[in-house]
Amino acid sequence: MEVTSVVKDQHAAIRRAFWRAAVPGRRRDGEFRRLVRMLATHEAAEQVHVHPAARRAGRIAAATAREGEEEQAKQLLARLWQIGPYGHGYLSGLRALRREVLAHAAREERDELPGLTRLSHARRWMLGLEVRLARELAPTRPHPRVNGALANRLAMPVLGPADRVRDLVSEKFPGRGK
Ligand SMILES: [Fe+2]
Ligand SMILES: [Fe+2]
Repeated sequence: MEVTSVVKDQHAAIRRAFWRAAVPGRRRDGEFRRLVRMLATHEAAEQVHVHPAARRAGRIAAATAREGEEEQAKQLLARLWQIGPYGHGYLSGLRALRREVLAHAAREERDELPGLTRLSHARRWMLGLEVRLARELAPTRPHPRVNGALANRLAMPVLGPADRVRDLVSEKFPGRGK
């Protein structure tokens, strides 16, 4: 699948995940974690693959503006993570994050993705594959041998891409994070 379809599909999945994370009950924790992971892997893949490609295709200002919005969304996400899915202010925090993220996604679709049509069909297809793989290969846990509280901390969205998680693991458990 070529990159614009992959990104739009992921935006739609994110929109659905926001609704599921708002539903009260026992499953909210799992749905919230799923949303966080989805957002983290989606935005990380865009930062590595999509924005640089858009920049090369001439959409420099759009790519830079989207990166700034991703940074802002990350701050909101970090705050929401601290509140937690059963904490006071969760729903209003979730709504604020949802508004930011969906407006950001709409701007990507309007101002950035059309620039990618200037790339060759093969390149767009490769980019789509890379964005999909980033999601599918993202670990459900940062390291199989790290459990409990530390694993939960490592799963925090604010840590960003996997390499930073790996750095933290090797800092805490020398020799294990590689
Ligand atoms: Fe984005
Ligand atoms: Fe996006």
